[in-house]
Amino acid sequence: MKLGVVGLGTMGAGIAQLAVETGLETVGREMTDELGETARGRIEHFLSRKVEKGQIDSFEIELLALTTDLSDLADCDVVIEAIVEELEPKRELFAELERVCRPDAVLATNTSALSVTEIAGATSTPERVVGMHFFNPAPLMSPLELVRAELTSDDAFETAYALAERLGKQPIRCHDTPGFVVNRILIPLLNDCIRVLDEARVTPADLDAAMKHGAGWPLGPCELADLVGIDVHVHASEALWEKLREPRMAPPPRLVAMANAGLLGRKTGRGFYTYE
Ligand SMILES: NC(=O)c1ccc[n+]([C@@H]2O[C@H](COP(=O)([O-])OP(=O)(O)OC[C@H]3O[C@@H](n4cnc5c(N)ncnc54)[C@H](O)[C@@H]3O)[C@@H](O)[C@H]2O)c1
Repeated sequence: MKLGVVGLGTMGAGIAQLAVETGLETVGREMTDELGETARGRIEHFLSRKVEKGQIDSFEIELLALTTDLSDLADCDVVIEAIVEELEPKRELFAELERVCRPDAVLATNTSALSVTEIAGATSTPERVVGMHFFNPAPLMSPLELVRAELTSDDAFETAYALAERLGKQPIRCHDTPGFVVNRILIPLLNDCIRVLDEARVTPADLDAAMKHGAGWPLGPCELADLVGIDVHVHASEALWEKLREPRMAPPPRLVAMANAGLLGRKTGRGFYTYE
């Protein structure tokens, strides 16, 4: 099994790391050599730490080849796309992948909020396109939503399922609907929590305590929003609102204001809470 990963940003580098750890020959494609090298450096760093902690014995970074040329993915069995979350660049990439990859290669997208069916529609072989929605951070989070688009074949779906299992993930089979499973439920739920903040005039710390101790949540909603990133949540919320037009999906104004002010949570040191 040879894997291709297109885009070695946050998610693509995590997926490539998993592949190397699993012992799969992998080709990673980035826009520039520098971006590829940066990703490989991060992967090597994380895997070395796992060796130091005794979580793995060793790894072979040589399993990961870097390229900027898409045609180097010609002999991959499966290609996972993890580029920017925008429809047109993804459709262009899939049309190009269809041209360069083997006719029996499975083409997967890691999109969170776009329609896998629309991405597949950019190819003339949509039956080999599936969604493989990893969670962030990909090496640590076990679920993977395996998304069947309208025309996905059983063969492609099962190949992707087997790959997900091989990468140590717990695949969840679902169809191509906005937000798939977790985001479809979690995004409106977090939005409700944020609205309650203002309606009930409760503090973020009290709301978090209420949901942790009253509902058994491992993290409070404000802690979770800070961890996910306020901007990431607002973006996903807007995408669901646009597709489903259910008022609960629309991002609460308080979160939009926080995103505009740069209060993005842990990554900027300030969100609902302040971080060192
Ligand atoms: N970050 C998350 O929490 C998360 C979780 C699940 C899924 N996703 C999805 O994964 C995808 C990637 O997200 P990310 O957060 O890793 O983004 P990112 O911005 O960290 O990485 C995207 C990378 O793709 C590269 N790229 C762009 N166009 C390319 C092309 N044509 N060929 C090769 N490389 C290209 C960019 O240089 C960048 O390094 C998106 O579809 C996103 O919705 C993200």
